[in-house]
Amino acid sequence: MLSADAKALAKRSVFLHRTYKMLRDARNIPAGKFLQPGKVHAVYKVLPNTMLPMPRLFDAYDAVAAIDAEGLAGDVAECGVWNGGCVGLMALSHLKNAGPRRRFHLFDSFEGLPQPTSHDKEVVEGFNAENHSVSSDDDLVAIGACAGISQPAVERFLVEQLELPREQFIFHVGWFEETVPRAVTSIDKIALLRVDGDWYSSTKVCFDHLYDKVVPNGFIIIDDYGTFSGCRKAVDDFLNSRGIRPEIHHSDQDCIYFRKP
Ligand SMILES: C[S@@+](CC[C@H](N)C(=O)[O-])C[C@H]1O[C@@H](n2cnc3c(N)ncnc32)[C@H](O)[C@@H]1O
Repeated sequence: MLSADAKALAKRSVFLHRTYKMLRDARNIPAGKFLQPGKVHAVYKVLPNTMLPMPRLFDAYDAVAAIDAEGLAGDVAECGVWNGGCVGLMALSHLKNAGPRRRFHLFDSFEGLPQPTSHDKEVVEGFNAENHSVSSDDDLVAIGACAGISQPAVERFLVEQLELPREQFIFHVGWFEETVPRAVTSIDKIALLRVDGDWYSSTKVCFDHLYDKVVPNGFIIIDDYGTFSGCRKAVDDFLNSRGIRPEIHHSDQDCIYFRKP
């Protein structure tokens, strides 16, 4: 009896949590976006498993719909999946619009963020003040921030809750600095790259190794461009070093995306 009550309460709080997020973000989204009930329902299903506000979720859903409608070749990759909400949403979009043809690469430590480096200026000072033994910029040490559920739990969310096919997901578990360069040989093309790793080094390694895999007109989404100066620096340095001037779009004030020129 007690456990049934507890389950009912948990369900209610998930319901309340979803509804709160929907109402909070709704005014920032053009009304037309709500005219597609399939999309709104998909967003609603993943809300408890993502940190992203709804404008970014709608744009991620639409970006996958666009690569499918345009028949762009390549996989989808998200670097920084946390509890799997956004990657699950992108897979739902793909399933609805094109069937499960693409592979989805999920990169994460599944133990949260590593320590920031000296490039992450606004966070590193606070971090240094709280942590007396700061290791070097090259050390990858989990700091406990942004730690989500485990990799098997993310897999269960995708396969059991969202009812997505297990075969399409490829998990790359560990630090991007190790898993991303290692994955390059097993990825041919990328149609959509979503970079959501907060820090300079986490962003830089994704651009250094995965940008060239993105097909022309493919999507590149950077979740933290407006949030963290280290992330912004990694993106700007990369684009400047290549002389690339893409047309930037904004999902909101922090998250940007562009289509590869
Ligand atoms: C902001 S969260 C991602 C949010 C997620 N996309 C969502 O839908 O809510 C950032 C994630 O990036 C991961 N991360 C950041 N830097 C990393 C690195 N260098 N290696 C592995 N994982 C990293 C963290 O573990 C965390 O799960």
